[in-house]
Amino acid sequence: MAMPRSKIAGIGKYVPQQVVTNQHLTQYMDTNDDWIQERTGIKERRYAHRTEETTTTMGVEAAKIAIERAGLTPADIDFIVFATLSPDYYFPGCGVLVQRALNMGEIGALDVRNQCSGFVYALSVADQFIKTGMYKNILVIGAEKHSFGLDFSTRGRNVSVIFGDGAAAVVLQPTHQANQGILSTHLHSDGHSAEILAMYNPGTHANHWVPQPVAHFDEAEIGQMFMSHAMIDDAQNFPYMDGPAVFKKAVVKFPEVIMEALAANGLQASNLNLLIPHQANLRIAQYVQQKLGLTDAQVYNNIQHYGNTTAASVPLALCEAWENGKVNPGDLVCLAAFGSGFTWASALLRW
Ligand code: COA
Repeated sequence: MAMPRSKIAGIGKYVPQQVVTNQHLTQYMDTNDDWIQERTGIKERRYAHRTEETTTTMGVEAAKIAIERAGLTPADIDFIVFATLSPDYYFPGCGVLVQRALNMGEIGALDVRNQCSGFVYALSVADQFIKTGMYKNILVIGAEKHSFGLDFSTRGRNVSVIFGDGAAAVVLQPTHQANQGILSTHLHSDGHSAEILAMYNPGTHANHWVPQPVAHFDEAEIGQMFMSHAMIDDAQNFPYMDGPAVFKKAVVKFPEVIMEALAANGLQASNLNLLIPHQANLRIAQYVQQKLGLTDAQVYNNIQHYGNTTAASVPLALCEAWENGKVNPGDLVCLAAFGSGFTWASALLRW
């Protein structure tokens, strides 16, 4: 029998209850609703409960829905891929925490750290395992709890107004139907700009976390232990973003990677029923739409209500579009993402 394709057999999303409007943010930083909406399209975002919700708990809620909609139980899942940049722990990753939370068997669990393109990368990894026949029911999750680590002072406003919390998940299964499933995925990176959108700490680029009880370390070095007050004062415990530089690269790479997916399958932008761009910034999505000559009906955006949820953003938008009846059997759907790394990716599929 021919190699199967992977299809999305179930999809689910979870967003925390707490809605944070642009107006709310003005209590903490010098910003305003007009600026945020004009530059990003964002009206509001969700923030997870400070202590009771984590990236994993949100991912688990989304996963439960995806698994149920696939007509399965957690016991049927044979592999987990979890994409996030805001894990519960520095290590281990969230995948094993999902395995534990859902009482799954001793299946494999893999974490992907590709930021905004994390979900599309994760989907591509899962797709390869399905196509080779290694696994039959793979759970792919994208989730983020950004609110945990943003700089809510005016200093961090260019970053903190953009990001929101949430989670979404899909279950991938093999299909032999001709007009269904993932047609191709396309993954790229360019590490030359790695520091343009990054959270540097904690990381081994810096000095040690703790004083080293080793003779060859001199006093001056010990004085610059990891996360000194000076580093905290210098905002080095927060994400850094050169917004305009990210914007410039994104508007080139988004159209490129979408066209690459279409060309690989002998298709054109006009054939697309729906483009789900990573919800980085509504202005970027609108630019991409215009560049590809797509109508409003061919592009799904929901950044207005959730902000940029990084690894959760693509499946969150796909899930919402599907729940709203905008994704139907046989539809040609393109998922595309760009973000920190830089990394960018696309997936073209028939629903
Ligand atoms: N509220 C009010 N003013 C703000 C602000 C905020 N939240 N954030 C920044 N500003 C100010 C800046 O301080 C600057 O003021 P100045 O001109 O007095 O120095 C001014 O607005 C313009 O800043 P700049 O960063 O040049 O704005 P911009 O037009 O590039 O918009 C972004 C900033 C972040 C919205 C935009 O660059 C962007 O969306 N980039 C892409 C980011 C992205 O998609 N990231 C996720 C990638 S996956």
